Amino acid sequence: MKKVVAVNCSPRRGWNTDLLVRAAARGAENAGASVQIFDLNLLEPFTGCASCFGCKLAPNEGRCVCLDGLYPVLEAIRTADALILGTPVYLSNVSSGFHALYERLVFQNTTYQKERPSYRTRRIPVLLAVTSGVAVENYGAMGYDAMIESYRRILDRSVGETKVVTSGDVLQVSDYSRFNWTLFDPEAKKKGRQERFPKDLEQAEKLGAGLVE
Ligand SMILES: Cc1cc2nc3c(=O)[nH]c(=O)nc-3n(C[C@H](O)[C@H](O)[C@H](O)COP(=O)(O)O)c2cc1C
Repeated sequence: MKKVVAVNCSPRRGWNTDLLVRAAARGAENAGASVQIFDLNLLEPFTGCASCFGCKLAPNEGRCVCLDGLYPVLEAIRTADALILGTPVYLSNVSSGFHALYERLVFQNTTYQKERPSYRTRRIPVLLAVTSGVAVENYGAMGYDAMIESYRRILDRSVGETKVVTSGDVLQVSDYSRFNWTLFDPEAKKKGRQERFPKDLEQAEKLGAGLVE
């Protein structure tokens, strides 16, 4: 049985990113895989890459040696057959948790050798799930397409073929009346949640299945 690791890099469990990650995980599971889901927010404390270069020295070449909260996630990914990573857009970028995981996942594979660029010998498919307040139609103008593509390309090179699923203009809170936010139309947000979001989940589920088929 194929093993899929899925990581929700949003601090909010049960919200948009988590739901998109879980939809992809469900797709993989329905296609016959076993899925292990991590919530970064529930892990022991962790940091990004410490630049210790322990992953460049025998016997740990290609393996992050920082024994914090991300260590079990990186170890699970090491033996996985596919990977699902989900992040919200924060300040036109990925979440800090996603970036910490990304630094350590990618940098441990980098050899700094001309002859052999990566320690990783086995490539696995990756699904990058991204959610945002901005509508997907505006990703080009906002620079999000380019930002997402830069992560996709590096994951593609370092881990394996990487596809992207997005969900924009998401419902950010369940009750907009608690806030004095004039930027959003709560009714339109609710409509998007009922009509567009289920289609995004469906797409995530399909791509999740594609990771193992
Ligand atoms: C700190 C912070 C920064 C954000 N910055 C952006 C942003 O730059 N662009 C955007 O489209 N949405 C932004 N958002 C909205 C989130 O991307 C969006 O609500 C996302 O779906 C949240 O994911 P979640 O529901 O899984 O927590 C931001 C939200 C937070 C909390």
